[in-house]
This record gives sequence, C-alpha cells and structure tokens, in this order.
Amino acid sequence: MKIGIIIGSVRDGRIGAGVAQWVHEQAQGREATYELIDLKEFDLPVLTTHQIPSTAGKDYWDERVNRWSAAVDACQGYVFVTPEYNHGLPGGLKNAFDLLFPEWWSKAVAFVSYGAASGFRVVEQWRPVVANANMFDIKAQVALSTMIDFTDGVLQPAERHPTELAAMFDSLEKATAALTTMRG
Ligand SMILES: Cc1cc2nc3c(=O)[nH]c(=O)nc-3n(C[C@H](O)[C@H](O)[C@H](O)COP(=O)(O)O)c2cc1C
Repeated sequence: MKIGIIIGSVRDGRIGAGVAQWVHEQAQGREATYELIDLKEFDLPVLTTHQIPSTAGKDYWDERVNRWSAAVDACQGYVFVTPEYNHGLPGGLKNAFDLLFPEWWSKAVAFVSYGAASGFRVVEQWRPVVANANMFDIKAQVALSTMIDFTDGVLQPAERHPTELAAMFDSLEKATAALTTMRG
C-alpha cells in the first residue's frame, strides 16, 4: 500500500516542503509506505487544453502531465499538504488536481494544512472538490499555525500534533485498504 504525500506549494521559499518532510518522517515504520511527491518538480502547465481529463484515458496532452499522472496513479491514497491562499485553495495544487481524474478516482485522501489560521478554511474547500472524484476524505486533519507551530519559517510542531498525525494515518490507512479492495 503506497500513500503519496503531496507537497501542495510550488512557491520558492515555501514552508510546505518542511511540513511534508515532517509528515514523511512521522510516517516511517508504519504499515503503509509513504512517498513524498513534490509538485514543484513536475513543472506542470496550466490546464489550457480542450482535452477533458476524465475522458483522456490517462494519455495527456503534455509529457509533464503524463509524468504527474504516473506518479499519482502509483499511489493508493494521499496526504495533501496544503497551504491556504486568500482563504481558499492554492492554485498550483488545484490545477494539478484538475489535470487528472481517473488517477484520483475512489481513493482516500487526508489533509495536513497550515497557515496563519491553520488552514481550516482551505480543507473545508478541498472536501467538496475531492468528492467529485468519488474520493473518501478523512475527517481527522492536522492543522498547523504559522503563528504557533513555526519559528522563522521552520516547523516546530506543538506537542499534540504528532499524536493527531498518527490518528490521521490510522484512518487513512484503513480507508486506503478498504477502497483498494473495493476498486478490485
Ligand atoms: C497568495 C497568498 C495568500 C495567502 N493567504 C492566506 C490566507 O488566506 N490564510 C492564511 O492563513 N495564510 C495565508 N497566506 C500566508 C501563508 O500561510 C504563508 O505565506 C505560507 O508560508 C504559505 O505556504 P507556502 O510557503 O508553503 O507556500 C497567504 C500567502 C500567500 C502567498
């Protein structure tokens, strides 16, 4: 069982990479294999094609999208490490989500958010988005405050967060296993 930890910020100097690194470290030794997937490395184009991702048969209009498709397809579940931009979804990650469709279908996803307001709003916006791909969104969320859990942009999570993250992994792994069986 492979679970992809997707770094949802593509900004230079992003703090999200450190958050994802921490999530990855905390996942070591668990039953599932967790792999970091760095959105920035894919240099994805903005979706400008007439092609509709749900009907493309996983054969896309740009080789970068095909690479992204293969990386997402190889995972049975996901952790979205998501910032909150303007009280909403980060455009780079939303675009990356929109570029694909069958790769996400009927899989599980959990959220680790961060921001001045800990990213609670952005996760509430992700939930109806992923529902369109029939995804099972894990209720347990880890929400990191840039005011409390970071020092000079470096993550120093409060004591409760590793326990919250472990609970999130527990739910995610159970849902991922169940949905893998369901998809057959
Ligand atoms: C375009 C933009 C909009 C932002 N809007 C919000 C916001 O609505 N809420 C919030 O908590 N933080 C907001 N922030 C602050 C981010 O939480 C902070 O910059 C964080 O470092 C962004 O994550 P990143 O460095 O991984 O890209 C915003 C940052 C940017 C760049």
